[in-house]
Amino acid sequence: MTNPDLRARRRRLGAFVGGLAATALAVTMALPAAAAGSTLQAAAGESGRYFGTAIAASRLSDSTYSTIANREFNMITAENEMKMDATEPSQGQFSYTQGDRIVNWARQNGKQVRGHALAWHSQQPGWMQNMSGTALRNAMLNHVTQVATYYRGKIYAWDVVNEAFADGSSGARRDSNLQRTGNDWIEAAFRAARAADPNAKLCYNDYNTDDWTHAKTQAVYTMVRDFKARGVPIDCVGLQSHFNAQSPVPSNYQTTLSSFAALGVDVQITELDIEGSGAAQAENYRRVVQACLNVARCTGITVWGVRDTDSWRASGTPLLFDGSGNKKAAYTSTLNTLNAGGTGTPTPTPTPTPTGTPTPTPTPTPTPTTPPPTGTCSASLAIANSWGGGYQATVTVRAGTSSINGWRVTLPGGVSTSNVWNGVLANGVVSNAAYNGSVAAGQTTTFGFIGNGSAPAPGALSCS
Ligand code: G3I
Repeated sequence: MTNPDLRARRRRLGAFVGGLAATALAVTMALPAAAAGSTLQAAAGESGRYFGTAIAASRLSDSTYSTIANREFNMITAENEMKMDATEPSQGQFSYTQGDRIVNWARQNGKQVRGHALAWHSQQPGWMQNMSGTALRNAMLNHVTQVATYYRGKIYAWDVVNEAFADGSSGARRDSNLQRTGNDWIEAAFRAARAADPNAKLCYNDYNTDDWTHAKTQAVYTMVRDFKARGVPIDCVGLQSHFNAQSPVPSNYQTTLSSFAALGVDVQITELDIEGSGAAQAENYRRVVQACLNVARCTGITVWGVRDTDSWRASGTPLLFDGSGNKKAAYTSTLNTLNAGGTGTPTPTPTPTPTGTPTPTPTPTPTPTTPPPTGTCSASLAIANSWGGGYQATVTVRAGTSSINGWRVTLPGGVSTSNVWNGVLANGVVSNAAYNGSVAAGQTTTFGFIGNGSAPAPGALSCS
């Protein structure tokens, strides 16, 4: 049954009950359990929204934890396991074991996954923390491409870039090694993510962006508006919404949600927790949930953990279940608010497609059709994605019948790029990076680049 059907059925039943005064009590007592959602995911689902939680892989073996998580939530975020340090601990060496534990658990239990996070100044692996300039830009783009490609088809939405703006009144970007690679690093990350997984929604995610009047909120808003105007592929904005006494739920929270939504992006509450207890905490949860329900493009809410004791702010008891797994007043308030509904009815959003000048985007499957000469290499170029004024290309380098210990690929004439990853560009020729020159006989490695202008024709390139 669809959600509108369910709502209509509830309205019809309500009218019917209202007309039968003599039997009203008996009938209404029989109805609520069937008509109202009895879990957070069911109640949110009545309006077409999801209700999610962050999950720590190490806690999945705790049956109290996994039972609550499975029962109450239908959107799962890996709390730490899909971050840059977890997924690429050494450069070019990707590790998905812990992320897969969470993604597989979610999918086996019929849940969707929010990916968190592809590019961030924090939680970088050690090798990346020491990088700068073009090498860092390329490493970041390669990370985005590799991780989003690996999880392609399994992710509802990616936090492509996390926490890139400064706190305080400046409205500036946060200083970081990524920011110092150039102001366009965020849009470059979004383009790489779109090319790697065209069906995932792509989100910008941040904290302290809940109060509409704050400089940081306005700065993120301005960036998203600019991205939409220029066709940079962005589908959603994540408001982390970590609240406590120093950072309370603002009175204009709904204005913030609706203002972002008016830019033509979905809004998601991505890491909700509210320190406190009892009725005051319950009231704050009610306000946040109601604000989301009143904005059609607020498509879901994720709390940042299951029980208070699972929280990164455990001492602030900020979640919906206590340490023993009991439902708190905040849970009841959240459930009741979801069941009561709001004024924003979501409409299904189409699968995101690359924005900018619409161009067909074939899946890159670069495989040379003719075997390369013995002892040398061949190279094949594919266009992964293109937009008005640019494109992303992937080049596959294949060793011949002997292994190679270095390679050089000549880019097509007229290619203009300053953005190459997994390779080193000089005078129109891309050479291997320090870590991918050795390719065994018959095996491949890839490099990529962002090009300016029109994309060249896919096909064979000169390799030596
Ligand atoms: O697992 C190790 C453990 O083996 C070791 O003994 C221990 C010693 O410090 O560290 C443990 O890892 C910690 C990890 O959480 C798992 O508990 C890390 O030190 C700790 O830094 C890490 O903190 C995470 C934090 O992000 C890192 O930035 C929190 O769990 C996680 O909740 C938090 O989540 C962030 C979002 O990603 C972005 N928004 C803010 C949010 C809250 O800070």
